[in-house]
Amino acid sequence: MDNRDIISKFEQRKDNMLNILHAVQNNNPNNYLTTEDLKLVAEYLNTTYSSVYGVVKYYSMFSLKPRGKYVIRVCKSPLCHMMDGDNLMQEIKDIIGIGLGETTDDLMFSIESSECLGHCAHAPVMMINEKVYKNLDSFKIKNVFQSIKLNEQK
Ligand code: FES
Repeated sequence: MDNRDIISKFEQRKDNMLNILHAVQNNNPNNYLTTEDLKLVAEYLNTTYSSVYGVVKYYSMFSLKPRGKYVIRVCKSPLCHMMDGDNLMQEIKDIIGIGLGETTDDLMFSIESSECLGHCAHAPVMMINEKVYKNLDSFKIKNVFQSIKLNEQK
């Protein structure tokens, strides 16, 4: 879908900026926002490019460079950290074969860390795109990536 069509579904209010940016980023198969996207949002909301750029730079869920089809965000906040989050992060890196902040050459996966994802009672937690995975352990992590691989082979 064209980004202009996506943006036009939102009311022209500045408090819609985050939702608009999310929708536009989600429309990009490589999960990022281009300079043209930011200009389009600024124009639609009748604001400056730099104010949109500032918002994008502030929030870690937005990216200005291409990322994988699957963006893995691992919570690094204290509770998840205490519940073995570091080891789980290492397992994910080993499975995918890249480090934190990196993207696979085939643009399938990116690994990022995140502040609290809001599901502390189920630590440790990660998100892959919009889906939350709770109470993680080695077994669950292996299953998650196994099912992604199977889905990709269909
Ligand atoms: S501390 Fe990890 S979800 Fe809150």
